[in-house]
Amino acid sequence: MTAVARLLDESRLIVTAGTGGVGKTTTAAALALQGAIAGRRTAVLTIDPARRLANALGLEAFTGRAQRVPTELFTAAGLTPRAELSAMMLDMRATADEMVRRYAPNAEAATRIVSNPYYQAFSTSLAGTQEYMAVEQVADLLRSGEYDLVILDTPPATHALDFLDAPERLLNALDNRAVNWLYRPRETSTRDPGYGAKLLGKGRQMVFKSLNKFTGGPFFEDLATFLQAFSSLFEQFRVSSRAVQALLRAESTQFVVVTAPYPATVREAIHFRAQLVERGFPFGGFVCNRVHLPVSPVEAAALTLPLRAAGVPEAVAPELASDLAGLVADHTRMAERDAESLDRLREVAGDALDVVPLLPEDVHDLQGLASVGAWLTGRGG
Ligand SMILES: Nc1ncnc2c1ncn2[C@@H]1O[C@H](COP(=O)(O)OP(=O)(O)O)[C@@H](O)[C@H]1O
Ligand SMILES: [Mg+2]
Repeated sequence: MTAVARLLDESRLIVTAGTGGVGKTTTAAALALQGAIAGRRTAVLTIDPARRLANALGLEAFTGRAQRVPTELFTAAGLTPRAELSAMMLDMRATADEMVRRYAPNAEAATRIVSNPYYQAFSTSLAGTQEYMAVEQVADLLRSGEYDLVILDTPPATHALDFLDAPERLLNALDNRAVNWLYRPRETSTRDPGYGAKLLGKGRQMVFKSLNKFTGGPFFEDLATFLQAFSSLFEQFRVSSRAVQALLRAESTQFVVVTAPYPATVREAIHFRAQLVERGFPFGGFVCNRVHLPVSPVEAAALTLPLRAAGVPEAVAPELASDLAGLVADHTRMAERDAESLDRLREVAGDALDVVPLLPEDVHDLQGLASVGAWLTGRGG
């Protein structure tokens, strides 16, 4: 049993992480497919729009709602999953709205918040909100009771660690003194405002006035109104953020670090794993994708067979054969380099390493995903 096959059996949440372009999204989708094949009701949540992948799953596009992969598609690909597979994309705005409605004291307060011009910016572009909302959405999926397994694909970040810091950064932002000063917590206004508080109130007004003049509009007053309204949610938000942190560290959660076999990428992956472990996130294993597997002499000899079968004229056959030999030599060199990368990964992770070879073409359909999945679960070849 491969490391990944075990994770598919035992986890409720698998997070694919790593630097961009290594095949994270593909791995996430392939894992989800294997989960469904094995009989676990599975959902994959991606942050990329990944239209081609959506099409590969028989969907027009990923949306903020979980869409089921049509059964006919499985049948056509010769697959018979024992449970359903659904796919969806992060919808930041919808997730944020949902949170506000859940935590606001009443519907009116919720509407006041979501209709504030600052809310849009806050809910969609504050650093880290994307990652945070993704985990919120995962928590929702798991709470719904409709899924046994959720696979979360993380954003194509060059700084992969941002993902882990995001919830903490948000919490820190909420603790920020300046923000507190600006939104003016209720306590100060209901208690008898002492001299200092009055002065602070005056000071705030003056700051707003000059800022408004400066920006040509009541932006900062809007911001203060927003923060004041939002402050009623801070505590709930904080609790929920802790729950998100706890979910990411749960025993039923596993991080799979996807990498390509290039030395620099492998170094980053190893560094990423160290950071995961240091912060108490469960590391499930490496997936090394796009690996050149060694060519055996028998396979190399077999490559010239089609030349003969195709009736290539005697005169050009030696030339083609030598071109082929050159290709095999190139491939072998890359396979040797990749083998060294695999050794590096094995040094830190032991058997918690699964290998997916560089496939002859892009993974653009269910069959392709199934073949990546087969490698991941040790049935490839
Ligand atoms: N093992 C593989 N062999 C061939 N092509 C692959 C393989 N894995 C991924 N790809 C292709 O590489 C491209 C990038 O993969 P993707 O999963 O989107 O990367 P990421 O999410 O890490 O940016 C896609 O076109 C995908 O089909
Ligand atoms: Mg991606």
